[in-house]
Amino acid sequence: MTNKWKAALGAAVMGLSIMGTSLSAGASSHNKDILNVAHRGASGYAPEHTITSYKMGEQMHGDYIEIDLQMTKDGQLIAMHDETLDRTTNGTGQVKDHTLAEIKQLDAGSWFNEKYPQMAKPEYAGLKVPTLDEVFKTFGKNANYYIETKSPEVYPGMEEALLEKVNKYDIDKETLLVQSFSPASLIKMHDLDSSVKLVQLMEYTSPAAINDADINAVKQYAMGIGPNSDMIDKEYVQKVVNSGLEIHPYTVNEKEEMQKLIDWGVTGMFTNFPDRLNEVLKGK
Ligand code: G3P
Ligand code: CA
Repeated sequence: MTNKWKAALGAAVMGLSIMGTSLSAGASSHNKDILNVAHRGASGYAPEHTITSYKMGEQMHGDYIEIDLQMTKDGQLIAMHDETLDRTTNGTGQVKDHTLAEIKQLDAGSWFNEKYPQMAKPEYAGLKVPTLDEVFKTFGKNANYYIETKSPEVYPGMEEALLEKVNKYDIDKETLLVQSFSPASLIKMHDLDSSVKLVQLMEYTSPAAINDADINAVKQYAMGIGPNSDMIDKEYVQKVVNSGLEIHPYTVNEKEEMQKLIDWGVTGMFTNFPDRLNEVLKGK
């Protein structure tokens, strides 16, 4: 665990403790099957975070649609990984400096055709950045959503806005997961609605280790951990699983790596290729 993460978690937990908030993880209904999370949709095959990519993830039998959230200048939640528009649209600059109407003018698909000509399709050109409203309207209240609060420090009120949409569309909280690298954001979500199941993302820059104190801190509010797959080992996975937490490493795109993680005991993983993971799970 990085010192930065530890410091952030410690401060966040201490803050809640001071406020007298009662925390519980709400982890009673874990799905013990290995979750196949379509990372940014089936983003190995279609432009990430487009309705097309999410639909492809469903068609490939991904169990969850993974959605990264950013917030526009006028407070609308949109599906986008980066804080800037530059990589995945033909726009430029910060999301927070643009209105939804401006972002809706942009092409969120042509970059993919240019970067991945072997996967390119004419219909990807001109795809739009979806709002969270559009995603919920398209896939409905019973779809499985795995939603990340990205850069919550840049977007005050993001957690309240997310919860407002979840409630507006009557999203089934049994099949909703909210994830973040920010402990403060997850603890805020837990404080707002303890029935929302949470996953603490971890980013390690060197081989990962996790101790009982780290695990117990996360268990105060979350039902799982999402570490980067390339920094963990069997011991890490088994320590987390034996603690009763779920573990969903990201982002696993090669079959050999998928099988290794399954053998270690992970309870799910994020992949750009949900079809590949299903083949591995079926022993193909
Ligand atoms: O949410 C799991 C994984 O997506 C975290 O990494 O950068 O792809 O959002 P990132
Ligand atoms: Ca993500």
